[in-house]
Amino acid sequence: MVDGKWLMVDSVAESQHPARPRRSAGGKATSEVVVSAHTGGNSDVFPVVIGLYVRNGATVADVTYGQGVFWRKVEPERYRVLASDLQTGVDCRALPYADDSIDAVVLDPPYMEGLHRRAQGHMAGSGTHGAFRARYSNGRALVTPGAPKYHDAVLALYFDAGREAQRVLKPGGVLIVKCQDEVSANRQRLTHVEIINRYAALDLRCEDLFVVVRPNRPAVSRLERQVHARKNHSYFLVFVKHPLASKKRRSPAKIKQSSQRE
Ligand SMILES: C[S@@+](CC[C@H](N)C(=O)[O-])C[C@H]1O[C@@H](n2cnc3c(N)ncnc32)[C@H](O)[C@@H]1O
Repeated sequence: MVDGKWLMVDSVAESQHPARPRRSAGGKATSEVVVSAHTGGNSDVFPVVIGLYVRNGATVADVTYGQGVFWRKVEPERYRVLASDLQTGVDCRALPYADDSIDAVVLDPPYMEGLHRRAQGHMAGSGTHGAFRARYSNGRALVTPGAPKYHDAVLALYFDAGREAQRVLKPGGVLIVKCQDEVSANRQRLTHVEIINRYAALDLRCEDLFVVVRPNRPAVSRLERQVHARKNHSYFLVFVKHPLASKKRRSPAKIKQSSQRE
């Protein structure tokens, strides 16, 4: 790392944008740049995020595909999309892909707001944390004493799925994660910060952050006294897998053997 950057990632980023010219002092001035904050829906913002970070023709595993809303405005020929979801029998914590085989992974598990998305046609459940755990943990969490609950159950899914995404991603591959902060048990939980910190320990470096602002005002509910700001924004986080992460995962003996062969 130099100045907080992985040198090889910069070259990976260049190679992931083959159509994009290298920056040069002579570049022309333009206001047509990709910006970090957007008012709109996921189907408006996701194409912007993936368009900037994932090269045409890449193999992309969307491991919480749901209704495929993210992909509605992405040109169908642009990527090779491997769509899976718990509802179709594939748990994002145990993917059917080989190590280091996928260019990009998209992850959008239910966050708390997601528990109430049924009205919008999503497959995410609705109701209590118990329902959440029953629906999204293969029932294991309900019978395991001490299993995470409430906000920690949401985080546990992000963390386990992040570890699995890291396994299947090629070195230098891209992970796009959708999340939202929440107030849980009267505590402000900055989910995006918790995910970024945990993923850093998995050799997934946060490369970018996009803010999605809902175009509509949140419904007015009866309040005696408002304590926290009502959230009307969520995030797309972009992570890059460390170029040497796979070598680090292998045992020192295996690394020695393979470097002797190289
Ligand atoms: C917020 S929705 C995803 C919406 C999706 N991005 C779209 O564009 O339509 C969350 C999805 O995560 C799925 N899910 C929940 N737990 C899962 C798990 N352990 N493995 C895979 N998918 C899971 C749910 O079935 C649901 O479809």
